[in-house]
Amino acid sequence: MTSLLVTGASGLLGRRLLDAEWSGDRVVGTYYSTPIESGHETVRLDVRDAEAVERVVKRVDPDVVVHSAAATSVEACEDDPELAHETNALGTKHVVDAATAVGARVVYPSTAYVFGDDEPVHAEDDEPAPINRYGRSKLDGERYVRAAGSAGTIVRFCVVVSLDRADSPDFGSWVRRQLEAGERVRLIDDQEITPTVFSDAVDALGYLVEREERGVFHVTSPDRMTRYELGREIARRHGLDPDLVEAIPMAEMGWGAPRPRHLCLGSEKLRQRGYEPVRIRTE
Ligand SMILES: NC(=O)c1ccc[n+]([C@@H]2O[C@H](COP(=O)([O-])OP(=O)(O)OC[C@H]3O[C@@H](n4cnc5c(N)ncnc54)[C@H](OP(=O)(O)O)[C@@H]3O)[C@@H](O)[C@H]2O)c1
Repeated sequence: MTSLLVTGASGLLGRRLLDAEWSGDRVVGTYYSTPIESGHETVRLDVRDAEAVERVVKRVDPDVVVHSAAATSVEACEDDPELAHETNALGTKHVVDAATAVGARVVYPSTAYVFGDDEPVHAEDDEPAPINRYGRSKLDGERYVRAAGSAGTIVRFCVVVSLDRADSPDFGSWVRRQLEAGERVRLIDDQEITPTVFSDAVDALGYLVEREERGVFHVTSPDRMTRYELGREIARRHGLDPDLVEAIPMAEMGWGAPRPRHLCLGSEKLRQRGYEPVRIRTE
């Protein structure tokens, strides 16, 4: 690849994409409120501002745009539907329009929240039916990517977690830090997820970008588990005490946004192409 633009490069995923092995010689990252220290060029961008998006994309003139910028808090999106719509739906339209104008491909990280509870596990071709505003706004974003025709790739993740790092802001890393400090962690045991292991999120995006794959792909571990089970697994992997992990029901989280009991994706299309997502269960 000769040129890559990563929006949301100050985020959990975007930061890792800037330094991914596959990202090539010329990588430019955008941030919104959190400037990034990086060996790459970075630029401030609000994706809600169509003209600014057009200006940045035109100047960078990338071959590929990984549009990772999003309003990602499920609760904040529920409380502020306008923010969700403007950032995740219209922001994506702005990126798609600008990328199309310079002939760049768009790769759009999306989410298992585009589905509801009609099936325990959703395949790539299942009909989305989100039950919260975050999911709806990301689905609207997907629609703009699809409307651009054959130039788009939608890559859905579930909960992105590190299994081997203690220095990242993601859920897996946080659980490990808590357990290492001897703290109890209370984790949900009545919602099943298929976590996306961080290395898979980065590597599978690279795999799909390099192969110029188009369409919808899921990238998740085949292991269905609750966050409680995942927390115990992380404890076992690092020789920490799994009994510090306590099971709680979702109701105790006090969440306002509705959430499905099953937030699970099947990654069959990726597997058919020879990419096997990481397994998490060791027992
Ligand atoms: N992490 C997960 O578990 C997960 C799961 C499924 C799907 N995804 C998808 O993966 C993508 C990346 O998620 P993430 O976890 O990296 O999210 P994140 O850590 O919350 O980062 C979000 C990024 O978007 C930027 N941003 C927010 N509002 C913006 C705006 N108006 N204009 C421009 N940039 C804006 C943020 O910039 P500042 O920080 O500089 O303000 C940040 O760089 C998202 O599309 C998300 O829907 C993530």
